[in-house]
Amino acid sequence: QVPRPGPKYACYPPHVLIWPLPALGHVNSMLKLAELLSHAGIKITFLNSEHYHERLVRHSSDVFSRYMNLPGFQFKTITDGLPKDHPQTVDNFHELLNSLASVTPPLLKDMLTDAKSPVHCIISDGLMSFAIDVAKQVGIPIIYFRTVSACAFWAYFCIPEIIDAGELPIKGNEDMDRLIKHVPGMEKFLRCRDLPSFCRAEDPMDMNLQLVVSETRSSVRADGLVLNTFEDLEGPVLSQIRAHCPKIYTIGPLNAHLKARIPENTHSSNSLWEVDRSCIAWLDNQPSKSVIFVSFGSVAVMQRDQLIEFWYGLVNSHKRFLWVIRPDLISGKDGENQIPKELDKATKERGYIAGWVPQEEVLGHKAVGGFLTHCGWNSTLESIVARMPMICWPSFADQQINSRFVDEVWKLGLDMKDLCDRKIVEKMVNELLVERRAAFMKSADRMANLAIKSVNEGGSSYCNLDHLINDIRMMSS
Ligand code: UDX
Repeated sequence: QVPRPGPKYACYPPHVLIWPLPALGHVNSMLKLAELLSHAGIKITFLNSEHYHERLVRHSSDVFSRYMNLPGFQFKTITDGLPKDHPQTVDNFHELLNSLASVTPPLLKDMLTDAKSPVHCIISDGLMSFAIDVAKQVGIPIIYFRTVSACAFWAYFCIPEIIDAGELPIKGNEDMDRLIKHVPGMEKFLRCRDLPSFCRAEDPMDMNLQLVVSETRSSVRADGLVLNTFEDLEGPVLSQIRAHCPKIYTIGPLNAHLKARIPENTHSSNSLWEVDRSCIAWLDNQPSKSVIFVSFGSVAVMQRDQLIEFWYGLVNSHKRFLWVIRPDLISGKDGENQIPKELDKATKERGYIAGWVPQEEVLGHKAVGGFLTHCGWNSTLESIVARMPMICWPSFADQQINSRFVDEVWKLGLDMKDLCDRKIVEKMVNELLVERRAAFMKSADRMANLAIKSVNEGGSSYCNLDHLINDIRMMSS
């Protein structure tokens, strides 16, 4: 048992160890949580993998120094146990988790039993159940943080029932529109194609699928669950989850919450790549709401022929476009993402290509009128806060279900799921920016107002963050 902080520590602020899964979308949003807690006077140790810490220091020294300047904030590093040249892609996600599970528990235990710096609470990524085992051994409360939407969490949670009912595996393409009946609350609209991408495995015992499911189910063993969402967005789904995990803190959208609590912080984006800001000057010269912004997040990859379909669709839409083409977006050889010759002139006239942009700033720019996104959860929330209608082209994990909710439930855009055709890209861009613009803007305004309300004083996310802070304080008293 770790020495419990008795009266001798009474003057110390509560100390929380925050431990994200080493992946950009996870590190990024848990850093935001860390900043909010630090602002409330909580001492933070942020445990980064050596790989991500090196990236943070090398590519984002400004983000790194901003955090280092927060009072009571420190970074610590821990190995992920993988060789330096391990690809760390979605397909071998289980290798990362298995490696973390085998090498980190003794290291974590040492850290937690260091009497010089007692930890009162762990907030770990909700995909790392081995952290719960260690926390229980040393007697420190542990709260889970999941980076995904509540709707994705709930679908993962229900997968054992879906499998038991024989609704998985999916039997080929012709089976994709079949409705799934065993995710309570989603019976009327959730199709096979909307389930998280891991469900597309031919074998329901697939390692990635089983791992995400068992990790999701482990949430019931944590002392609480923090979700980056808000009650007005996902209330009905949250009620379902609460039947299994009663202590849920919905504190999102985190980007808006940071701005509401710390108005002087103008940097809520924690980009871990070098940002190319030249696109802002280009946007400054475009008419209001004329540009479609295209970005597929930090991990998703596409084939060269898919890139070409998007390129033709964007050019043929005759709309202006700003497109993030990361150096590693295209799976293939060097140079394969060069502009097709026949599209060169139109791209120079109406388009702008960048490797990595300040996404939140772009979404808030007056020239941008729509977002073609992979529907990663951070991007979806950033789009909601920016009142930006979406075209969704999901790639993996939770993105398939997020995009269904964006279109069918929240009416915030169009789900292009599983299609990649220049004619459809062209049609949807025009629908979003012109033909159905008024209807989408109405829903986007409504949802953005609810999001902002939730993070302002008295709002649900604001109050829930206060509950979390109070609960952490109680743990240290
Ligand atoms: C992944 C999953 O896709 C996501 O669904 C899960 O919830 C977390 O892990 P990622 O694919 O990177 O994350 O997508 P997303 O969650 O949207 O995060 C991307 C982040 O990168 C966003 O915060 C976005 O603002 C930022 N970004 C993206 C930039 O700052 N600049 C860019 O050019 C592109």
